Amino acid sequence: MKRAEQESSDGAPAALAPTANIPATLPEHPPEQDFRFYDNRQKYLMFVNTCSEKWIVADRCARELDFIRPEQPAIRFFDAGVGDGTVLARVLRTMHRKFERYPFYVACKEISLEDVRLTLDKLPDRFLEHPEMVIAITNIAYAEAPWLTPANPEARKRLVWKEVALSGSTTAEFEQQIIDLQPFLAENWRTKVSEKTGSMLPETPAVLVLYRQDCQFLLDRVIPRQDEPRADFDLILASQPFRLRAKVEFKARRVLAPLARALRHGGRLLGIHSAGNDPGLEIVQKVWPGEDPFTTSRRQLIEATRDALGEEAKQFKFDPLPNAQALFRYEMHTLPDEIDSESASIGTSTLLAAWNAATYVAQIEDERLAEAMSNSTYLDATRAVLRKNGELWFNDESYLISRLR
Ligand SMILES: C[S@@+](CC[C@H](N)C(=O)[O-])C[C@H]1O[C@@H](n2cnc3c(N)ncnc32)[C@H](O)[C@@H]1O
Repeated sequence: MKRAEQESSDGAPAALAPTANIPATLPEHPPEQDFRFYDNRQKYLMFVNTCSEKWIVADRCARELDFIRPEQPAIRFFDAGVGDGTVLARVLRTMHRKFERYPFYVACKEISLEDVRLTLDKLPDRFLEHPEMVIAITNIAYAEAPWLTPANPEARKRLVWKEVALSGSTTAEFEQQIIDLQPFLAENWRTKVSEKTGSMLPETPAVLVLYRQDCQFLLDRVIPRQDEPRADFDLILASQPFRLRAKVEFKARRVLAPLARALRHGGRLLGIHSAGNDPGLEIVQKVWPGEDPFTTSRRQLIEATRDALGEEAKQFKFDPLPNAQALFRYEMHTLPDEIDSESASIGTSTLLAAWNAATYVAQIEDERLAEAMSNSTYLDATRAVLRKNGELWFNDESYLISRLR
């Protein structure tokens, strides 16, 4: 079934069709800002590994599993920006615990080659524990990724679609076959800077589909087909899916509205972003007085998404959640007494990790960082804030958009 047919049959909006309402080239980020997400590998990885955010995001997301009502033939989950796969691996573990014998269809969007490698690296164990699982990873834009289909007909023709049925039954066998995909990834997960917009684009639109060969028969109706685009997700996670300083209209129109359209009836989209008002921002403001990148609240985002959906908005419930449910905090991992004891001096690696986390979360551009780090003021500022608060924590906020049943 072609996507347009599927939409008319399930009553979903025509705007879902790859050719409708989606401009031929969708910049991932607005051109007026040149902060580059994907050039910040080391900072991202240091942040992921020194702070508890991704654990807590995964817990928050897993709680949504209590509210989904999956339908045959599979639970459908979409990770809108899988990053290094830390959140995904954790969500999949909980999904297995809650739905032990249900088939899973899991689709992910990720443009960064290194992140795709890191995500794949976490999958052999998941395939062992939950064999009834299909994973699809794509590098195409948010508005198209849930359907695994580029909007632009020319890009659609160039789409590289690779299906891998993993043979064997041990993690070592799965791991080897995933390692063997490195040349394919190196060839097809390259990026280029768009001359028109300055944003990062995939050179080749690509989709990689993985499942266990011994479950191929069982998963026949779950495995996505190139000529049968289908979204219909039970749960979508949009964790930190855009740059904080991007315009709210951009976030709503290019990311959240298309993701909402990718929900099936009763499906839930959980959005999460940094909220500020924490010691992390205190560090940043000591070095750059008045700096505050956390300007778009979840309520503004929700209203902008409602506007972007126009008439279709009636099909959705928009829930900014009460503060007690929406806001959560996470910490930088430290050793006991490392920061709060008066006598101990804070180690340089802790100071650097704290500085990295604070400036990463505030998405400070490289040029400004380099300038600030040309003398020791930044370390003094970080030390002072750690001493004052006894620990380093950050605030995130979350919200829900669900498609009415
Ligand atoms: C597409 S996204 C998010 C990937 C994945 N969903 C996750 O939460 O790790 C990747 C980009 O989001 C930004 N990002 C990730 N975590 C962040 C945080 N806690 N605060 C601000 N930005 C963040 C970074 O710029 C990163 O390169």
